[in-house]
Amino acid sequence: MLRIDGLCAGYDASDVLHNISLTVAAGQIVAVLGANGAGKTTLMHAASGLLRPRAGAVLLDGAPITDLPAERIVARGLSHVPQGRRIFPGLTVQENLMVARTAATYRAPGGFAAALAEVRDLFPRLAERRDQLGWSLSGGEQQMLAVARALVARPKLILLDEPSLGLAPLVFEAMFTAIASIRARSGIGFLIVEQNAEQALRIADYVYVMELGRIVAAGLPADLAQDKAIERAYLGA
Ligand SMILES: Nc1ncnc2c1ncn2[C@@H]1O[C@H](COP(=O)(O)OP(=O)(O)OP(=O)(O)O)[C@@H](O)[C@H]1O
Ligand SMILES: [Mg+2]
Repeated sequence: MLRIDGLCAGYDASDVLHNISLTVAAGQIVAVLGANGAGKTTLMHAASGLLRPRAGAVLLDGAPITDLPAERIVARGLSHVPQGRRIFPGLTVQENLMVARTAATYRAPGGFAAALAEVRDLFPRLAERRDQLGWSLSGGEQQMLAVARALVARPKLILLDEPSLGLAPLVFEAMFTAIASIRARSGIGFLIVEQNAEQALRIADYVYVMELGRIVAAGLPADLAQDKAIERAYLGA
């Protein structure tokens, strides 16, 4: 479904990503673990068209999307839930969801109304807060809204950057349950970036570990849970 092949990217004079390759199969949940500054967010931005890669390719369903503008990448079926949620603070919950509509929203059976119904089932709190402004939501509700906003675009795959950041354990456990349920009901795949290795290892089908812009380990969660590379990446040593 998603293939990242030899990706290099950076900012001005600094190279951050060095030859990153990874794949996410249809309906798979793949996690990328790594310490602060490992380049996880840069990888997400390079995949979703927010940062132009310096080399390498990003393929969705076998077709290159590397050089497409971000909005065309969303239209192809790759949605990005950014680190820090980035919801629109001056718009209501409903307006945040309206902004995310694409042609695919209306191509899907039931259109926008069906997308809203799905969001309501997954996150009843958002339905209760429909007319509240984005800034008045709690961190957990903002994360729900950011995921809901991605879903409205009817993606095949979602890039999810640090969904647990700043959330209380009960709240992020609920978030991970919602992610598993989205995958189970709609077959949407996820590439999840996390610093919370324990949660990520629990939900993921496959895991990559990043250190200083490179993939330093990859494997099944059960295997990586025993791996010293994860510990090292987290301690940054
Ligand atoms: N806009 C930018 N301009 C210049 N350098 C940047 C920019 N964004 C990130 N960097 C640098 O790129 C490197 C990787 O940052 P990135 O945000 O991708 O890491 P990360 O793994 O997502 O970290 P975190 O866990 O803190 O979110 C860091 O050295 C960071 O300082
Ligand atoms: Mg980051």
